[in-house]
Amino acid sequence: MKKPVRVAVTGAAGQIGYSLLFRIASGAMLGPDQPVILQLLDITPSLPALNGVVMELDDCAFPLLAGIVQSDDPKVAFKDADIALLVGARPRGPGMERKDLLEANGAIFTIQGKALNEVASRDVKVLVVGNPANTNAYIAMKNAPDLNPANFTAMMRLDHNRALTQVAQKTGVAVTEVKKLTIWGNHSSTQYPDIFHAEVKGQNAAQLINNQQWLESEFIPTVQQRGAAIIKARGLSSAASAANAAIDHIRNWVLGTPEGDWVTMGVPANGEYGYSDLIYGYPVTCKDGKYSIIQGLEISEFSRARMDASAKELSEERDAIKHLL
Ligand code: NAI
Repeated sequence: MKKPVRVAVTGAAGQIGYSLLFRIASGAMLGPDQPVILQLLDITPSLPALNGVVMELDDCAFPLLAGIVQSDDPKVAFKDADIALLVGARPRGPGMERKDLLEANGAIFTIQGKALNEVASRDVKVLVVGNPANTNAYIAMKNAPDLNPANFTAMMRLDHNRALTQVAQKTGVAVTEVKKLTIWGNHSSTQYPDIFHAEVKGQNAAQLINNQQWLESEFIPTVQQRGAAIIKARGLSSAASAANAAIDHIRNWVLGTPEGDWVTMGVPANGEYGYSDLIYGYPVTCKDGKYSIIQGLEISEFSRARMDASAKELSEERDAIKHLL
């Protein structure tokens, strides 16, 4: 039997947590022969609910679940963590501006970045899901100077998966026939879903669809606004699909991306496509537990304007939390 992997999950008593933990414990994230220890963090008032979730995890008798830790202390939950899924965040309350949300969450990710720096495995792979995910990942990364900055990522995979299905439905193919989509930028309504390098059954997706009106008035806004559409329909934000995207993100990062395809991850920008000092959505391939950004894609003026707009929003978010770094 392999040595168990320690997976820390924050906000473990929340909606996404409830969809996420059971799949991690079942082997969906790291494979059917990889035992896991779940290290669950939530705030003190949520601990009774967390205990209920742990009771249910126990009741599944998952063969791969080698242990469970529950705590309201990040230093306990992150101890020796190999993977950290930072899901817990303050939701936007009534009358709260975006700036207030940045501030409230900034404080959380400062503390969690410091705790990861102190106690997590030196190779910990961090995925930030809690919004604003890209900027929260940036804050955690900056507060963890002893860890590799490349190991701090933000979740763009839900946007990526949403876009895959939109293209598959438009072209009448199975979702597995759509490849090389990219969501550039921020996990927000400024994100830019790009089909110009995407392929449908090996053909260029933009050329095959050949419909600028659909692209600009349907596809891009549908993907950008999907989160809001789900809140409107369900009365709650996307949870099962978000958990699924987190599983996909980590599975590909650890076990690799399929040949001939790429995925989108929010990763530190170091000059790629002209952006730096941000956590930006890029197309990446993963191999041997490391991701690499796809370089040298040709960017049209149409794409560039949208990629720049999202980078601008990210730099404004970064400037708003500067005092927390
Ligand atoms: P939820 O409100 O159901 O659960 C959040 C949990 O986090 C609660 O149990 C809460 O007690 C906990 N929490 C709050 N502050 C914490 C802290 N300092 N430390 C540890 N735990 C803390 O929310 P849900 O639906 O599970 O969503 C979680 C986050 O994920 C939200 O910020 C949401 O906006 C974001 N999200 C991100 C997506 C993405 O694609 N990046 C997609 C969907 C949601």
